[in-house]
Amino acid sequence: MKRRYKVLIGLGAITTVALTGLAMTLSHESACEPAPSAAIAGDSTLAVTARCYGSPEVLQVERLPLPALLPDQLRVQVRAAAVNPLDWHYMRGKPYVMRLSSGIGRPEDVRVGVDFAGVVTAVGAEVTRFAVGDEVFGARNGALADTLILSEDGLLVHKPANVSFAQAGAVGVAATTALQALRDHGELKAGERVLINGASGGVGTFAVQIAKAMGAHVTGVCSGRNEAMVRGIGADQVIDYKRADYTAMDQRYDLIVDMVGNHSASANVGVLSERGRLVIVAGKKDGDYLGPLKSLLWLRIVEPFLERPAGFMLAQLDRDDLQTLADWMASGEVSPVIDREYPLESAAEAIAYLERGRARGKVVVRMDTAEAANAALSAAR
Ligand SMILES: NC(=O)c1ccc[n+]([C@@H]2O[C@H](COP(=O)([O-])OP(=O)(O)OC[C@H]3O[C@@H](n4cnc5c(N)ncnc54)[C@H](OP(=O)(O)O)[C@@H]3O)[C@@H](O)[C@H]2O)c1
Repeated sequence: MKRRYKVLIGLGAITTVALTGLAMTLSHESACEPAPSAAIAGDSTLAVTARCYGSPEVLQVERLPLPALLPDQLRVQVRAAAVNPLDWHYMRGKPYVMRLSSGIGRPEDVRVGVDFAGVVTAVGAEVTRFAVGDEVFGARNGALADTLILSEDGLLVHKPANVSFAQAGAVGVAATTALQALRDHGELKAGERVLINGASGGVGTFAVQIAKAMGAHVTGVCSGRNEAMVRGIGADQVIDYKRADYTAMDQRYDLIVDMVGNHSASANVGVLSERGRLVIVAGKKDGDYLGPLKSLLWLRIVEPFLERPAGFMLAQLDRDDLQTLADWMASGEVSPVIDREYPLESAAEAIAYLERGRARGKVVVRMDTAEAANAALSAAR
């Protein structure tokens, strides 16, 4: 055999072994560790945690220590915290590729959740924007907890008085995603026609309302059972995806925001107007290793051949955007849709429900039962 073939076969074998090793490492799941039983000296919070990867059964409510308040920090008593698909992605560690950042074998950060709303209960000496008693909402890792410590410069703004804690706690990830998809990536202008695929979900219910607030003509794609709700939050037109395929219809759109990933990019682009744009928020769920990333990688390859601009977006949480959303809520133009509320001790059920993919608006965990959860935790010890 010629030397160059031997080299090629050798390289192929090394690559195969390396990829197999990487795949085995990424998919390895360490056993679930119990929460530490030692009493915590100093301040603590009840928090939902995941000490291993797996189904919602791995989630538990436990006490975690809180750091001492620094001069530029404030303490928030959380009243409501919403769950997002990213919470169950982190809980399962899927797609596996995300474990490169979240932790190999088990999560490096055991805390769960991002979105919250609550009341400021203490402020450091240098804090000027907030005072004790202020009602706030925002985003922070580990938000499924009854108490959070945040920097004054963190992702935190005042809650408008006309929305509930559950509604404000539902804003963070979903509403930011909807806003950035429409305004930044989609460059939506007043008078344009926008189609929201997945209009009845957490992101979609915000997208419909934000697109209306931006002066667009909105078509929402959802199932028949959610048609009235999607019309009720402002959609001018609704397509029931179980009865009709919007990519096979005559209507053209200036912007499509896709929260589902059930149609190819070329099918979506096929129903865009001449100046139309496609913004992909979610790819097709496809396998454990790359999951939705597979279709997004594919988009990179086909993108140069598409007749209209198409791109995947990743939302970046931003305080100014939270303020924009607070202003829209204050004026009544955006009103978060809450599907279900669960008590803290049932946070695992909340995430299990969301994971089934049938939520109508947002799913929220209420913290007003934190005392009961605490009592149950103490009794279990
Ligand atoms: N790229 C980013 O930065 C980013 C940020 C946030 C979220 N995401 C992703 O965006 C996706 C949506 O998030 P979400 O919070 O809105 O999820 P969600 O609340 O779980 O979405 C559930 C909704 O999807 C609807 N749905 C399911 N299949 C559908 C279909 N074929 N056509 C139209 N609607 C359908 C369901 O309606 P029915 O029950 O009637 O079917 C349900 O109302 C998730 O995959 C999430 O991971 C991405």
